[in-house]
Amino acid sequence: MADLLLGQVLSFTADPFAAGLGAARHESHGAVLIENGRIAAVGPADRLRAAHPAAKVTDYGRCLISAGFVDAHVHYPQTAIIASWGKRLIDWLNLYTFPEEMRFADAAYAAEVAERYLGLATANGTTSVCTYSTIHPESVDAIFGAAARRDMRIWAGKTCMDRNAPEGLRDTPQSAYDDSKHLLEKWHGQGRASYVITPRFSPTSTPEQLAALGALWREYPHCLMQTHLSEQTDEIDWVKSLFPQSRDYLDTYEAQGLLAEGAIYGHAIHLTARERDRLREAGASLIHCPTSNTFIGSGLFDMGGLKAEGHRVGLATDTGGGSSFSMLRTMAATYEVAQLRGRPLHPAELWWLATQGSAQALRADHLIGNIAPGMEADLAVIDLASTPAIAQAVTRAGDIWQALFPTIMMGDDRAITATWIAGRPVI
Ligand code: GUN
Ligand code: ZN
Repeated sequence: MADLLLGQVLSFTADPFAAGLGAARHESHGAVLIENGRIAAVGPADRLRAAHPAAKVTDYGRCLISAGFVDAHVHYPQTAIIASWGKRLIDWLNLYTFPEEMRFADAAYAAEVAERYLGLATANGTTSVCTYSTIHPESVDAIFGAAARRDMRIWAGKTCMDRNAPEGLRDTPQSAYDDSKHLLEKWHGQGRASYVITPRFSPTSTPEQLAALGALWREYPHCLMQTHLSEQTDEIDWVKSLFPQSRDYLDTYEAQGLLAEGAIYGHAIHLTARERDRLREAGASLIHCPTSNTFIGSGLFDMGGLKAEGHRVGLATDTGGGSSFSMLRTMAATYEVAQLRGRPLHPAELWWLATQGSAQALRADHLIGNIAPGMEADLAVIDLASTPAIAQAVTRAGDIWQALFPTIMMGDDRAITATWIAGRPVI
């Protein structure tokens, strides 16, 4: 049976950073027709109601129907340690992250956190995530299993580390290769699951491990590869001392076959001119994690400059280095960080980044991240007056962007009226 959702509908025909505001389509009294888990039609409510009289109607009134949010970089095993106080990256990893990740050797604990995490993500209107796991294969099975039960499009991979991590949280070049390959064969392409080859970052992988994962990626070039790049200056200094022969941080990956189309680098804040050029030439994706970058004190991502150079950029919470599960909060932090760099991002640019931009970064913008016929029916329905503070601010809004911006800046999970995944309402 077909579903017809009524409300204000926001979609994009292009990237507003390049094409300007004409890239956005806003239907004030719009409708989205869903059939067999996909979007079958979008347009004015009157026309679609007349054309599809048998469809089951859900009227969301003045709520905004958008593509669901795509969170392009998270660590689901860090769900329970979100908002841990007072450390910078390396201390934060050692004090909070590694002890918690140790617990994921227990499959039951991994399954419990995977369920909890996806519950929080979908309550925040997030319909797809690209997540790290821990070194334990059980943690990969847990998140793919929990996503399959929700029919979510998901990317995940086993986090690989063979040095500078505690006993119990280290693999080897060979076991990282073998376990990753086994999990890739088991999960990649099962339903809506995609496997991502996942070396954590250069400080916790020997060159031998990076080379082994580079070799694996050459065997499966259609998979994505995710890691971290140039998040903090202390980290960059550490990478220099660990890889004295490398030209820069990116080169530690590039030299081992870990720079190509389909490479997804989290943070990418303190980049050299050479790194920026090579990342763009290679067609790699950069993922901006603004609540994490301010929370851990990492720095100010150059959104304006990188987008103007033509980089592929997605947006992410970086749970639990990030301080929120909400992509609304993430958009607000994106705005604030860009303001500190002198580039006030338009609400259309922010919304595009959290939906199509992230989908493009994951090379899945033909499947998710927008409302258009043929796309998978992953939707967020947004209440634009979800709190008294937001409601009073929107009363004088003259257009959709003025109506949307208070929710971007002050909204949270209370603004999420419904989340639809693969054509079914999950909250
Ligand atoms: N760099 C390497 N691992 C991590 C992590 O778990 N979180 C963040 N924010 N940065 C990292
Ligand atoms: Zn991360």
